[in-house]
Amino acid sequence: MKNLKGKRVFVAGIGDDQGYGFAIAKALAEAGAEILIGTWTPIMNIFTTSWKNGKFDASRKLSDGSLMEYAKVYPLDATFDTPDDVPEEIKENKRYKSASGYTISEVANEVKKDFGTIDIFVHSLANGPEVKKDLLDTSRSGYLAAISSSSYSFISLLSHFGPIMAPGSSCLNLTYIASERAVPGYGGGMSSAKAALESDTRTLAWEAGRKWGVRVNSISAGPLGSRAAKAIGFIGAMINYSKNNAPLQKDLKAEEVGNSARFLLSSDASAITGVTLYVDNGMHAMGLAVDSPSITDLS
Ligand SMILES: NC(=O)c1ccc[n+]([C@@H]2O[C@H](COP(=O)([O-])OP(=O)(O)OC[C@H]3O[C@@H](n4cnc5c(N)ncnc54)[C@H](O)[C@@H]3O)[C@@H](O)[C@H]2O)c1
Repeated sequence: MKNLKGKRVFVAGIGDDQGYGFAIAKALAEAGAEILIGTWTPIMNIFTTSWKNGKFDASRKLSDGSLMEYAKVYPLDATFDTPDDVPEEIKENKRYKSASGYTISEVANEVKKDFGTIDIFVHSLANGPEVKKDLLDTSRSGYLAAISSSSYSFISLLSHFGPIMAPGSSCLNLTYIASERAVPGYGGGMSSAKAALESDTRTLAWEAGRKWGVRVNSISAGPLGSRAAKAIGFIGAMINYSKNNAPLQKDLKAEEVGNSARFLLSSDASAITGVTLYVDNGMHAMGLAVDSPSITDLS
């Protein structure tokens, strides 16, 4: 199915082959799209070196036997919009010092210079420095940092990429059920950041639809043992919980989120915008944990 042939995609938030961003890029490449990648500045070198050294080759394999390629990878720190926003200590940090042009406006300009236009962008990034803390214990700066990198980054990417996206283009972000249900352990304002992201998806669908004819959607994904999720600490338990309690009792594969993203981002979904689509084996539909010790007889 090559329904994205001739389409150019920018995927923000790929740092290895374990996360949703990689799986979405692969599903889009499988459909014939050209892939551009935005990788968090401090891990850019390790990512490109690992790619070159073949560390991701097994995961890059497409159904025709070829390996997924990228046209270009850009360093990106989505917490900064312009060079003036970057504090001196970050500029001087050893993982940033040799990099340049990594703020959102600079990356969008560079993409425009390199390729002219894009047809699709994907926001697959999040960061909450205090994610392990309860919301009650979260500092103001930790909360604002979560919102800045996990939610405002999407608004900023859309406002900078919108002008180089043709009518009929589309974009996507990734959210999590903790936006609408309490999930103890997903703290630091990350639940708030995801709630903002989903609300912004609706408002931006209206604004970007009227301004550029661009569609804006979100996927609320089930738990996956990505690098970011492992850093939170309880992802193994969340995966087990979902497997024991979701309507579909099976592992959730990143590829399944990739395939749903491909649908939402292609013209097959040309009348769909402002939607948050659950891709979670149906877990969102449950109001009862059937493996709870309180439940003894469900027959
Ligand atoms: N893994 C899950 O269980 C799960 C569930 C639902 C939603 N999600 C969402 O999926 C998206 C992708 O996460 P993932 O779990 O696949 O992990 P991941 O580690 O593959 O992706 C997160 C990426 O964000 C990047 N990043 C962090 N801060 C950044 C910044 N300031 N600028 C640019 N990039 C930055 C990281 O380097 C990393 O590559 C996130 O929005 C996450 O919240 C994940």
